[in-house]
Amino acid sequence: IRCQSTSTDEPKTRRNLLDNASNLLTNLLSGGSLGSMPIAEGAVSDLFDRPLFFSLYDWFIEHGSVYKLAFGPKAFVVVSDPIVARHVLRENAFCYDKGVLADILEPIMGKGLIPADLDTWKQRRRVIAPGFHALYLEAMVKIFTDCSEKTILKFEKLLQEETLNRGRKTIELDLEAEFSSLALDIIGLGVFNYDFGSVTKESPVIKAVYGTLFEAEHRSTFYIPYWKVPLARWIVPRQRKFRTDLKVINDCLDGLIRNAKETRQETDVEKLQQRDYLNLKDASLLRFLVDMRGADVDDRQLRDDLMTMLIAGHETTAAVLTWAVFLLAQNPSKMKKAQAEIDSVLGQGRPTFELVKKLEYIRLIVVEVLRLYPQPPLLIRRSLRSDVLPGGYRGDKDGYKIPAGTDIFLSVYNLHRSPYFWDRPNEFEPERFLVQKKNEDIEGWAGFDPSRSPGALYPNEIIADFAFLPFGGGPRKCVGDQFALMESTVALALLLQKFDVELKGSPESVELVTGATMHTKNGMWCKLKKRLT
Ligand code: HEM
Repeated sequence: IRCQSTSTDEPKTRRNLLDNASNLLTNLLSGGSLGSMPIAEGAVSDLFDRPLFFSLYDWFIEHGSVYKLAFGPKAFVVVSDPIVARHVLRENAFCYDKGVLADILEPIMGKGLIPADLDTWKQRRRVIAPGFHALYLEAMVKIFTDCSEKTILKFEKLLQEETLNRGRKTIELDLEAEFSSLALDIIGLGVFNYDFGSVTKESPVIKAVYGTLFEAEHRSTFYIPYWKVPLARWIVPRQRKFRTDLKVINDCLDGLIRNAKETRQETDVEKLQQRDYLNLKDASLLRFLVDMRGADVDDRQLRDDLMTMLIAGHETTAAVLTWAVFLLAQNPSKMKKAQAEIDSVLGQGRPTFELVKKLEYIRLIVVEVLRLYPQPPLLIRRSLRSDVLPGGYRGDKDGYKIPAGTDIFLSVYNLHRSPYFWDRPNEFEPERFLVQKKNEDIEGWAGFDPSRSPGALYPNEIIADFAFLPFGGGPRKCVGDQFALMESTVALALLLQKFDVELKGSPESVELVTGATMHTKNGMWCKLKKRLT
């Protein structure tokens, strides 16, 4: 499904044809096995004019929290309901796999955690999740800080040059591109101890990573999976390039895996076992996976795992930082409040693991950004067996029976902006999470209650009883949630410690496009001015 916003002057005949085809299919499918479920009769042209999730939102308001979207040769069930989301993600999680998403990602991530079938997933999750323990995160804060400081230093140099050459006190930068480089450097070092150095240079591997991300985006936003056609991978130029890019990254990862296996040392294993993490030269996840499991780790599986984390952890974090500056630039009083917290916790110093935990307002900014711009905006599942979805909060008491093979879109975007669960849902208000909101009138939904997750680093899906899913929920919840949260907190804090940020143009001029994540069409162009200290 193409979700990218395109020009509105799409030729009328093509749109009419598509609309007719869509209506026909809607009618054909309306008597289908999903029984009395409401059907969204949107025109396919809706999908051309703007990102898909905007239309999914309008249909949610019109048809309710569970509806069927008949589109192309398939029907999708769109869920915007915390009770149904809780069922699909947690209570009956193993009745579902990743469906369409796995089809798209498998050629890139193989049997990595995100697309993995349930058997592989169970095995690998058990091995990988322990790698993200507290001491690893503590070692990572140093990497987040080192990499963010390099970015800030680059900005300071650019500003100096601008002042010297043109007498200007501000620089203009595409912060989306800068955050993308920063997130790539961090994920490379944190996951497999590879220094992409992309903040300061270009390399064939960096180009290949971007090429692969671009193709993943293309595949998730294109109607027809033509790349599955025999010979397409040899004939279609972009598919040939994709294969070349994939080979460059795979060769690089294979080299790193080989090296990690060859340099496995018992002293390092002892340090790992004694949890002497900060004294390890290489604290990466790859080192952990190889050292703790010895030589029995399957190279192909390890490569799939690393590739998955490279992609899962890169664009998501870059997007959070991008939308954070977009929202803060429009809310200068909140930016000042954030800077006041940074000044009082860090002063002009560097973040440490303990200090990062004290940056509470910055963390709330990050989660509020994830509420408004969830990454990804949709979670995708396919039922492996027939199932009965529970009645949602809007009185569908009996729920709906769904057959095996039903594709489900859980619209995190709709949940996060639902007028039924949030006051002023479209406003940027990080403070909202400080107010406890009990539920008295929505049967089956337990409301917001921090006591359900004592000591949680952030307002999570348990606290919100699945009305808020910043990192998904249930067994397939993001394995890197704390990594990502701390990374974003450090990067944002170090930027705001030194700079005031303004948008270069109007907020309306920033065009949003979606693939796997929400990003901009032409960059997040900002003006940076040194803060007076
Ligand atoms: C899964 C969001 C950063 C690794 C997920 C899921 C979400 C998510 C929503 C669940 C997908 C689903 O249920 O279909 C995010 C966001 C991030 C982020 C918003 C940044 C702000 C990271 C990082 C890593 C990572 C930094 C690794 C270092 C993964 C993996 C999975 C996953 C491996 C699959 C987990 C499984 O199926 O067991 N992420 N993620 N993510 N994420 Fe993240």
